[in-house]
Amino acid sequence: MNPRDFIIFHPAWQVAFTLLGFYVAWLGLKRLASLHLGRQTSFPRSRHALLGKLALVGLILGTAGGAIMVRWLWRGWLVTGVHGWLGLAVALLALIGLATGLILERRPKSRKGLPLVHGLVNLTLLALCLVNFYFGDHILDALGD
Ligand code: HEM
Ligand code: HEM
Repeated sequence: MNPRDFIIFHPAWQVAFTLLGFYVAWLGLKRLASLHLGRQTSFPRSRHALLGKLALVGLILGTAGGAIMVRWLWRGWLVTGVHGWLGLAVALLALIGLATGLILERRPKSRKGLPLVHGLVNLTLLALCLVNFYFGDHILDALGD
């Protein structure tokens, strides 16, 4: 098996789960508008939580997959520079986003601080994913794919 035949899986996977993440963020922003900006909005809580889990678990698995592919191709961890380090940051933030989301989902009560931290962590990680599209494209260029 040639590892280069599998190169395209990781980018395609990450783009798909990042897009799902943006849909989840759009649902979350409705909640933010009602919690912090005093606007009347409907928040599909269980759809947000279900698709949010899918998006974050997908991104964590895709990031681990990229790292495993790099280990297979180049026999080392985090050898791609910024792309790899940003990936590590994304995975750590996704774990925090998942943990805070689970608390908000399972112990619902009136609060403002934790939802704000949860929202900011997840929006930051999605922004880092977009930055990583740029650096990931450089790796593909360097590989000549
Ligand atoms: C891509 C992933 C996610 C994004 C971008 C995201 C974003 C957000 C945002 C912006 C808010 C509003 C925060 C506020 O009003 O201050 C929110 C609220 C919420 N999120 Fe997420 N979220 C994600 C994943 C999850 C997950 C995985 C869960 C559950 C396991 C979850 C459960 C919740 C709940 C229950 C609320 C409402 C909190 C409340 O009403 O007090 N989210 N989310
Ligand atoms: C959600 C955004 C993304 C994250 C968090 C992410 C994360 C990672 C990580 C952690 C690695 C291992 C790096 C190392 O060990 O040095 C990696 C490898 C790689 N990434 Fe990404 N990545 C993302 C999106 C992309 C995109 C959009 C592309 C292409 C346009 C891309 C192209 C690559 C390539 C070519 C590799 C080498 C191995 C492989 O193809 O699986 N990545 N990525």
